[in-house]
Amino acid sequence: MQRREFSKLLALLACSWPAGALAQASDADWSELFAQALEEFPWLAAWGNIDRDHYVSDAAVSGRWPEELNGTLYRTGPARHEVYGYRNHHWFDGDGMVHAWRIGGDGVRHQARLVETAKVKAERDAGRALYPGLAAAPPGAVGLTGPDDLNLANTSILHHHGRLLALWEAGSPYEIDPDNLSTVGPYSFAEPGGGSSMRGVPFSAHPRVDVDGSVWNFGYASAAGLLVFWHIGADGELRNAGRIAVDPMTMPHDFVVTERHLVLLLPPFHYRPRANADGFLNMHEWRPEDPCRVLVVDKNDLSSHYFLELPAQWVFHFGNAWEDRSGVIRFDAARAPDPSIMTQTFTEIMRGNPDYGRAVRHYGYRLDTRARTISEESMLEPGVFTEFPSIDPRVGCRQYRKLVFLSQSEADLAEHGTLNEVNLFDIESGRRDWFRYPDTQIPEEHLYAPRPGSEPESAGWILGTAFDWRRGRHIINLFNAEGIADGPVASAELPYAIPLGLHGKFVAG
Ligand SMILES: [Fe+2]
Repeated sequence: MQRREFSKLLALLACSWPAGALAQASDADWSELFAQALEEFPWLAAWGNIDRDHYVSDAAVSGRWPEELNGTLYRTGPARHEVYGYRNHHWFDGDGMVHAWRIGGDGVRHQARLVETAKVKAERDAGRALYPGLAAAPPGAVGLTGPDDLNLANTSILHHHGRLLALWEAGSPYEIDPDNLSTVGPYSFAEPGGGSSMRGVPFSAHPRVDVDGSVWNFGYASAAGLLVFWHIGADGELRNAGRIAVDPMTMPHDFVVTERHLVLLLPPFHYRPRANADGFLNMHEWRPEDPCRVLVVDKNDLSSHYFLELPAQWVFHFGNAWEDRSGVIRFDAARAPDPSIMTQTFTEIMRGNPDYGRAVRHYGYRLDTRARTISEESMLEPGVFTEFPSIDPRVGCRQYRKLVFLSQSEADLAEHGTLNEVNLFDIESGRRDWFRYPDTQIPEEHLYAPRPGSEPESAGWILGTAFDWRRGRHIINLFNAEGIADGPVASAELPYAIPLGLHGKFVAG
């Protein structure tokens, strides 16, 4: 795409932010409702508020941390859920807090900082909540000039070419100093040959790192009816960008990349803008009678694409994908029958109403790029619900056989009712090994950390954090990948806890 094309894209996006999300929250005080519910369900503290914007501590270490494991687990997540007395009406509306868990020979240290976004600064200056969220807006909410006005930097982390970026779904990455976690500011990738900024063009929260070190991503601009595609070289420079018109637009959260293609699932959660809607989510209509469209894009020509169809479904996260020589793509996803976890569960939890719909099950997909067909089937036994799939990062966008994910089993639910197991699943053999967390802890995303010098998927650790709601502590746990059922081989505990986060990356070294 030439510079003129970039400029055209920016012009389209500048006017694309929906203007109708200004209906104000008029119901009961959600802070009060949440506080009342907390007395009955103390584990709801996982969706509580932070009490300061900067945390730092040495963690109390137990077990044996391997000498070969050196590096930092960076994470982000919604953390500030109450802004000057106004409690957000959706989990994903919390201001982002970036964490660094630094693991080395001298122990485990933790640091976390609220991202100094434009929103955080503007609300601090105003002394009140200013901006609409996904499900409601605070009293007196102001209009938006663009997506970065309310960029929360609260969803995921990309560490690339030495740069640490905290990602949201609908705006620019936020650059963070990897050493002290201070906020540098919104980041825009350099255009080939220099030139105009790509700032504000949506950069979604789940970029995929290819085997050559380059990064693929997409973004959606609802009002413009466009999906945007990014390809960033291993040198950090924007190598290519593209766009494809999608009508009606939906809310894709993640995608997969193979040797030759990008694949997105587009659930029938249709963007239908209307004035005075109660937030951006309510500008969407779930149409289960419509198919889930599958968009297949040629990596070598980002305008070349076609659509296939699956039954209606909702997917937040994929594990990975690969493509064999005959052009057959295989990928996996945590699949829900509808988006109610997004539209209901994550709203209700904010006013202290735990209403989990257990329906997310892990599926495998087979997409034949020559016959242009796609099929799907469940990968696990009934009654096992999953989320947060991840892989050994060395097999990203290529053939893989092992998946890490969280789960819960219908026959053995935790007191807190949400995910409570961490798994290593072998796709080829169907073997699933898992560890069940104690009911006092709620595990967060767990990641595969390779053992230095090992073959991919052959030896490594599973690293993940957990919220101990009974003791008000955050914990990091390390498992041997091949002995996950034995429980953590090492742990480290903080003297405080921070509300549940979302995604992270382990950066070795
Ligand atoms: Fe995500």
